[in-house]
Amino acid sequence: MFNVKQQLTEIKNAAQNVLNDITSKQQLESFRIEFLGKKGKLTQVLRGMGSLTPEQRPVIGQLANDIREFIETQVNVISSKLEAEQTQQQMLKEKIDITMPGKKQRLGKKHPLTTVLDELTAIFTGMGFTIAEGPEVELDYYNFEALNLPPGHPARDTQDTFYIDEKVLLRTQTSPVQIRVMEKQKPPIKIIAPGRVYRSDAVDATHSPLFHQIEGLVVDKGITMGNLKGTLEIFCKKLYGDNTQTRFRPHHFPFTEPSCEVDILCPSCNGKGCRVCKNEGWIEILGAGMVHPRVLQRCGIDPEVYSGFAFGIGLERITMRRYGIDDLRLFFENDLRFLKQF
Ligand code: PHE
Repeated sequence: MFNVKQQLTEIKNAAQNVLNDITSKQQLESFRIEFLGKKGKLTQVLRGMGSLTPEQRPVIGQLANDIREFIETQVNVISSKLEAEQTQQQMLKEKIDITMPGKKQRLGKKHPLTTVLDELTAIFTGMGFTIAEGPEVELDYYNFEALNLPPGHPARDTQDTFYIDEKVLLRTQTSPVQIRVMEKQKPPIKIIAPGRVYRSDAVDATHSPLFHQIEGLVVDKGITMGNLKGTLEIFCKKLYGDNTQTRFRPHHFPFTEPSCEVDILCPSCNGKGCRVCKNEGWIEILGAGMVHPRVLQRCGIDPEVYSGFAFGIGLERITMRRYGIDDLRLFFENDLRFLKQF
């Protein structure tokens, strides 16, 4: 009896000693297992109760329960204390200094070429055009031959071409998309095809080996030069304002007949001649024409039944005019001081 009682008192004292040094939840848990667990110190002592007399048992039982309760209470108290400390530390760590200056988020914006392309696309889709695409690495056949420019045709020389091999090149114009669309799709056709084109030009204020065009193609029964003029006049007015005057000037392209270039009256001088229009009074906007019957035929479209018109717009030129940019190189240098202005 004395022995068990002493053991219990020792356990209580030991528990108290250890408890004072506990600083973490893990320590507390090992402590709990060590003293109260199934194989814990207290349980082991209680197992020895069998050897006690019936009179001793309730006394020792009571003492053991008191000690268990004492230890359990201590564990709970320390557990809440540790939890409170942890929360406190967490709060300190996450403290926000609301007086600190914020970090500025820099917002990007569209490249001026993208802005103007979006605008042109909106104008044409508003007129019922859909968007087509073609490859930038193109076959000679689509870029030249199917467009009435057979090998050796002098007009090939005007488009300084990057050849990859004899049959493959970087497209010099978006016109090959006309052929690809007509091969796949039967009339009515009404598409625009914006994209990059390449010519082996030395870089200067008005030339770049990479630039952008927007091709247009309409093919259906009964399409005439009147449709071409009406469509392109509306386009110019939507882009440059309702008072814009247009001029359709005869020109030559091998894949259209007849062909023309479209000018607008110089908005800076109203035709008198100035720096903006290089004293011409007019500013060239695009090339266009009625799709050549042989081009239609090659794509399996009967030129006796169908006719069409096509046009090609230079995106850089239109964008330069729109914002008064005088050097093409600025588009491709990615200088933020330039790009931020639009
Ligand atoms: N592809 C021609 C060029 O690059 C432009 C054009 C397109 C002309 C369609 C007529 C019809 O100069």
